[in-house]
Amino acid sequence: MNIQQLLNDKIKQAMIAAGADSDVQALVRQSGKPQFGDYQANGIMGAAKKLGKNPREFAQNVIDVLDTSDIASKVEIAGAGFINIFLNNQWLENSVSTANSDAKLGVNTSQNQRVVVDYSSPNVAKEMHVGHLRSTIIGDSVVRTLEFLGNTVIRANHVGDWGTQFGMLIAYLEKMQNENATDMDLSDIEEFYRQAKLNYDNDEAFAEKSRNYVVKLQSGDEYCLEMWRKLVDITMTQCQATYERMNVTLTPNDVMGESLYNPMLPVVVQALKDKGLAVEDDGAVVVFLDEFKNKEGEPMGVIIQKKDGGYLYTTTDIAAAKYRYETLHGDRALVFTDARQAQHMAQAWTITRKAGFVPETFSLEHFTFGMMLGKDGKPFKTRTGGTVKLNDLLDEAIERATVLINDKNPDLTDAEKQAVIDAVAIGAVKYADLSKNRNTDYVFDWDNMLSFEGNTAPYMQYAYTRIRSIFAKAGVDGDTLTGQISISDDKERALAVKLLQFEEVLLTVAKDGLPHLLCQYLFELAGVFSGFYEACPILSADEPTKTSRLLLANLTAKTLKQGLDLLGIKTVEKM
Ligand code: ARG
Repeated sequence: MNIQQLLNDKIKQAMIAAGADSDVQALVRQSGKPQFGDYQANGIMGAAKKLGKNPREFAQNVIDVLDTSDIASKVEIAGAGFINIFLNNQWLENSVSTANSDAKLGVNTSQNQRVVVDYSSPNVAKEMHVGHLRSTIIGDSVVRTLEFLGNTVIRANHVGDWGTQFGMLIAYLEKMQNENATDMDLSDIEEFYRQAKLNYDNDEAFAEKSRNYVVKLQSGDEYCLEMWRKLVDITMTQCQATYERMNVTLTPNDVMGESLYNPMLPVVVQALKDKGLAVEDDGAVVVFLDEFKNKEGEPMGVIIQKKDGGYLYTTTDIAAAKYRYETLHGDRALVFTDARQAQHMAQAWTITRKAGFVPETFSLEHFTFGMMLGKDGKPFKTRTGGTVKLNDLLDEAIERATVLINDKNPDLTDAEKQAVIDAVAIGAVKYADLSKNRNTDYVFDWDNMLSFEGNTAPYMQYAYTRIRSIFAKAGVDGDTLTGQISISDDKERALAVKLLQFEEVLLTVAKDGLPHLLCQYLFELAGVFSGFYEACPILSADEPTKTSRLLLANLTAKTLKQGLDLLGIKTVEKM
């Protein structure tokens, strides 16, 4: 149910009938205050101005031809020419009853785009760190939302699995294999990388061998490829374990690392040369872009092939954009990285478009995010100043949640308790990130994220269990409960309206990649439910009121659970 769209369409039609152009915008939005109705149309003033009419008069002309008798109980003109719409209770009752008996909770799930989503994207031989956390968490919730709405999502884990560093990594892997007869322990892959680099910097023979291996690897040498594959496998096995631990939907099949695009790079460079976009400059191949200026105010040169023939991160991203259109047949391609890569993506895609590798209709969208900061407002680091490893962070979350949950509910079995700890710990870390507007930096604060008060995972998870406990007490199975909801109290009405706005927020998340809006919605929903629950007794009410209220509670629980699931956050039945 998309009330906004429904009203927008109706009012737009009425505006056209009242004389506006066919491209007029009704700009229907949810109203901020109850006295302004449930929805308001903000487009009247602009349209009236264009027509040279008085806005309030034009608003009246629109209302005269507007037919919302089925949906609205009242439509009125307010202020300088807004139209306020008050939904009619009977329509709300029917809509919310239908939503409750629908597996998709009344959400229209017929979107059918193909969306390529590039997220997480860690680097080989480097353990995932908190820097990859935001991409993974935010990307995964957008992916889940896109799929729920009916789209086909192609997850593209753009793993950094290629580059000159592989020479030294292979040389070091070889050294380790020679020294240790048994299978080596690469659990500390970060340390492995450090050691490789140390050898490279201090041992000329090792460095020589490394450089030789780079060349061999690039020309497809079987031995080097096999060693390379080992490194990729070890890294990705570790990442996969982290994904599973974090309830992230990425699988090994979703890896589309940088190496995938290798064979396409010479073709891309040649095409850019042929089109006159790329030129030789001091031995390298460069694209000069008027759209970007360098410090001297001249068109910025973007290198796509180095003097030594090597390709760059940008070249790969041009090829990736092309591939996502041409081969994967995407309608949209989204990339989630931190904001520091904004210029890089913009340049790669400007070149992609100038070359005509993708048509206008193919949408390339970079969803960036800010940094994760410590409580001191500086980039999040360990106590000793190192980068925090994701797994250590999750271990700490589990430890803290264990303390929190252990003495909360003595009635839980050990297995139940463990499930609660897991859901709360992982949920708290994810929700803390998801609930902030991704465009800003955010402060990582254990105490806040594990609090049972405020817009946090534990609060939301607890709100869900509280509703479920009503059903346990009533001895009613919420899953099979259907029937007609009736509205007699303002709080019931407010809850019904809020429940019917689920789809609207999902559409925004899918379009703009902003899961914090879904967190905000769920938090508000939990609040509206509390207001309802205080004012409207459920179990002590007489029939048919009791069942009607149970139905409202039921749809609330299902919406919270579904919403949290789209955020990648688990719910439990008791906590
Ligand atoms: N591996 C990169 C990093 O760790 C992120 C890749 C993002 N995707 C892309 N198409 N550039 O920074």
